[in-house]
Amino acid sequence: MPQVIEVCPLEALAPGEMRLVEWEDQEIGVFNCAGNFYAIEDRCSHDDGPLAEGEFDAETCTVECPRHGSLFDLKTGKPLTLPAYVPVETYPVIIEDETIKLEVE
Ligand code: FES
Repeated sequence: MPQVIEVCPLEALAPGEMRLVEWEDQEIGVFNCAGNFYAIEDRCSHDDGPLAEGEFDAETCTVECPRHGSLFDLKTGKPLTLPAYVPVETYPVIIEDETIKLEVE
């Protein structure tokens, strides 16, 4: 069953910022791309690098894995460059009552 968890107040995650949240045994990065919010797992599909902590480009809405440099599309979780070729998990973001929330499962 999907579950909704709170991330933070809306104003606490400005455009161009990322916040890590933990849920059960998963770490999830929540990104603000120019006012649109996206969430991906903080684990690269190539070799488990801490993906969400890589360089975040809010204009293109991508993040670069700090380990071997694969670029991931935050909207889809798909890698745009090698060596990663498998998408990472994405999570629906819900804005409700001026609060950022995530649907997790
Ligand atoms: S662990 Fe991310 S590209 Fe290798």
